[in-house]
Amino acid sequence: MPITNNMRGEIESMHEIPHLLLIGDGRLARHLARYFAQLGMGHAAWSRRMHEEGRCPDLAMLVRPQTHVLLAISDSAIETFVSGHPELEPTVRIHFSGGLATSLAIGAHPLFSFANALYERELYERIPFVIDEGAPRLSALIPGLPNPSFFIRPDQRARYHALCVLAGNFTTLLWRKLFFELNREYGIPRDQAFPYLESVARGLAETGSPLSGPLSRGDTATIARNLEALKGDPFAQVYRAFVEAYERQQGLAESGAGKDWLAR
Ligand SMILES: NC(=O)c1ccc[n+]([C@@H]2O[C@H](COP(=O)([O-])OP(=O)(O)OC[C@H]3O[C@@H](n4cnc5c(N)ncnc54)[C@H](OP(=O)(O)O)[C@@H]3O)[C@@H](O)[C@H]2O)c1
Repeated sequence: MPITNNMRGEIESMHEIPHLLLIGDGRLARHLARYFAQLGMGHAAWSRRMHEEGRCPDLAMLVRPQTHVLLAISDSAIETFVSGHPELEPTVRIHFSGGLATSLAIGAHPLFSFANALYERELYERIPFVIDEGAPRLSALIPGLPNPSFFIRPDQRARYHALCVLAGNFTTLLWRKLFFELNREYGIPRDQAFPYLESVARGLAETGSPLSGPLSRGDTATIARNLEALKGDPFAQVYRAFVEAYERQQGLAESGAGKDWLAR
């Protein structure tokens, strides 16, 4: 592909610090690009779509040995992408998957859920990155990034990620279901549930115990009525599973770990 002046400018700017190359054009890549712009951090960008459309050169042209390659691509593509691009071999490669532990790239998981809308810098700055133990600190991996960071062992990633999915993705499903059903069954617009959602988030962010409702009161009669009312709903079994898990976790808490977060 012929190199345009734009591309040449981009390639030449690679000689300036920081040598960041952002791969991908999905959700995370869009947010990172925005955040880097807010921080005034120059970076080059490459994605297979831009490449196919002739909007960026071959990957090899954007890579130097000192390049920090940010692999903001699907979890399942990370290892094959690195293996399929030997030109990345001398670079520092960073991926953002919460659950992947691989020798081909350093994990730096942003503990956040990136929606479609882009955010303001103050919010981006608060996102912690969870980095593979033994790797350089965040400010060396992505120079210029002021975010907090924490190290975990690669063998801890699977459980760490499972906990994130439980908390973030599963509650998203529960809230989306509430919005949908409120509207469908009672004609209540979903935005009328936002104060409730906000009250839950605020309660969680405070230090006291935020759990209210029949589970925290041990109100088995109400739990039984709730389950009866959910008969035939696919989420009845989710309710049942929560009650069971809560009771089992209480058993564990009594024997030591996690007394406080389950406190009524
Ligand atoms: N989204 C979040 O909230 C979030 C939070 C924390 C961490 N992460 C992590 O961030 C990474 C990216 O996630 P995302 O949410 O941005 O995903 P996404 O929106 O689905 O975007 C995935 C990107 O990967 C590219 N891709 C997929 N397979 C590829 C391949 N074989 N070769 C080259 N590019 C390929 C896609 O390109 P095409 O469009 O051409 O398919 C797209 O640009 C993942 O590791 C994810 O776990 C995401």
